[in-house]
Amino acid sequence: MNDYTKLIEDALYSYLPSKNVYEKNLIEAMEYSLKAGGKRVRPTLALEFCRLCGEVPQKALPFGCAVEMIHTYSLIHDDLPCMDNDDYRRGKPSNHIVYGEDTALLAGDALQSLAFRIMTAPETVSLAGEQACVKAVNCLSYYCGAQGMAGGQAIDLAYEDKNAPIEVLREMDSKKTSSLIKSACALGCIAAGADNEKIAAAEEYGEYIGIAFQIVDDILDVTSSNEELGKPVGSDKENSKSTYVSLLGIEECKNLVESYTHKAINALNAFEGDTSELADFAKQLANRKK
Ligand code: IPE
Ligand code: IPE
Ligand code: MG
Ligand code: MG
Ligand code: MG
Repeated sequence: MNDYTKLIEDALYSYLPSKNVYEKNLIEAMEYSLKAGGKRVRPTLALEFCRLCGEVPQKALPFGCAVEMIHTYSLIHDDLPCMDNDDYRRGKPSNHIVYGEDTALLAGDALQSLAFRIMTAPETVSLAGEQACVKAVNCLSYYCGAQGMAGGQAIDLAYEDKNAPIEVLREMDSKKTSSLIKSACALGCIAAGADNEKIAAAEEYGEYIGIAFQIVDDILDVTSSNEELGKPVGSDKENSKSTYVSLLGIEECKNLVESYTHKAINALNAFEGDTSELADFAKQLANRKK
């Protein structure tokens, strides 16, 4: 895949508010998690879909950064003691371990609002156009809310200590993980002014790589090490989570990852341009080790 990491990280950090304020601690907590690294999967997808739809990738940069901020907020909250109670993230102590639960909660909240501020900033409107910005905000707010990531997290909590049937797991993973990935793909198309048919195809790709992504995450929770993963392994078992792995076992899960990756690649047929980067990216994510 084209390496957009530097482009993404320079933009991402440029959006952080000044630290020369009484609430310096909050800004530092936001910065801590944003700068802790992470694979930048979601903004990379936004930029590549924008390029595929015939525009320069930079046009999707503010939207890609917005999704990464929402994603980072979701991880800060996901690690809190009232959620997964995990002490490590991105190879470092979790946000609440360093800044306390109170500030970690606020850092997540503030990253979420910063995302929508960026998408509607005058510079973003000049870059992508008013219509694209409205459509993008509508898309991301849907996919991060009750019908998207937050809803999926609620299903995840509701099925702790219970055996979720496969259709519940499908819905949970679609919401908690595919949603933000799907929105990233859609936002890239929206930034490029693509039509609804292209946006739907991008979302279909995102839906499938998202499910595969969460199944791989659940496999790595069992098979990897804290050092390689940068977050605690065994977290799902510890929290009695219901996952594809707990229901079907690792071998069956590997087959599912392959079949969802295949479906994702098929969805790219709707595009006329060169989709090989996105096809390879889907395969790389399926084989990732962290
Ligand atoms: C972790 O996402 C949470 C899941 C949806 C499984 P990533 O694996 O993309 O986390 P970072 O951004 O690289 O840390
Ligand atoms: C996905 O689930 C988390 C979010 C949607 C925020 P996990 O709880 O499995 O993610 P990790 O393993 O902590 O990154
Ligand atoms: Mg979780
Ligand atoms: Mg977790
Ligand atoms: Mg996990």
